[in-house]
Amino acid sequence: RMSLTKKIQRVNQLKIERNAVILAHNYQIPKIFHTVADIVGDSLALAREAEKIDADVIVVAGVHFMAETTKLLNPDKTVLIPDLKAGCSLAESITAEDVMGLRKKYPGIPIITYVNTSAAVKAASDICCTSGNAKKVVEALGVPRVIMIPDEYLAQNVAKQTNVEILTWKGHCEVHERFTPQEIKQLKAEYPEAAILVHPESPPKVIEAADFSGSTAEMSDFIKQKRSDEVILLTECSMSDNLAVIHPDIKFIRVCNLCPHMQRITLDNILTSLEENKYEITIDPSIADKARLSIKRMLEI
Ligand code: 13P
Ligand code: SF4
Repeated sequence: RMSLTKKIQRVNQLKIERNAVILAHNYQIPKIFHTVADIVGDSLALAREAEKIDADVIVVAGVHFMAETTKLLNPDKTVLIPDLKAGCSLAESITAEDVMGLRKKYPGIPIITYVNTSAAVKAASDICCTSGNAKKVVEALGVPRVIMIPDEYLAQNVAKQTNVEILTWKGHCEVHERFTPQEIKQLKAEYPEAAILVHPESPPKVIEAADFSGSTAEMSDFIKQKRSDEVILLTECSMSDNLAVIHPDIKFIRVCNLCPHMQRITLDNILTSLEENKYEITIDPSIADKARLSIKRMLEI
């Protein structure tokens, strides 16, 4: 078996040979995030960076919808995902047919889709958003009522910050829906000094009980700005693992959930993806242009 050092070396060697870059989401394990990744960030940053990439091959260390977004913004490049089964409970919760059903039911109301959806759902929607820009996107449309799919909690959390009425869908993130306000109360009793950070994919009652809510990039900024010496990142576990590596002066209390989809990506399958050119992302040409338009509209805001 290959040692860890050898594996990292081999991946880096293949990146040179193939003119490849590796994009990694904040929820990737330190063994990927702090070794072979070239570009790291939240969903919004990865989408923005994907637009500027100068490489022949892009490996997405993240989940399927992220790889699709990357391919939509880089149609002429080879985009690889090391495991095709790296999905997302939010993306699974809605189909393009469902979106067309919403259009029929609510004619004329713009449909904003969270990026955590398939390319087909993006194509059937008007514009995308991420957790980092959702409020901005809702307000940029300049209408009194919008539909925001598929994350019910993200939509409810944004609705609290705006006068725009938001209709939603019943999708949930399996990592964030499991946190509870009771849990936060207990943590506060046990760790009175710790700031509790949560993600807007969590239920509204969780957001209310926490000290800070934001996208994974906003959580990173909170830590970088040293707004608290002690923190609990109540989100995917790799988030605090990655930050703990670079902020030894901050105390990270590790209470978190794992995303089984993010966990499917390993250093081993990243290596195989570059060696064997798999798994290549392709987008049905009949939906690619429309899906790209929804992403581009978001990026222009
Ligand atoms: P962000 O990185 O955009 O906050 O997204 C979180 C998430 O759950 C991605 O799968
Ligand atoms: Fe999907 Fe939640 Fe996993 Fe992100 S953390 S990929 S939203 S299931």
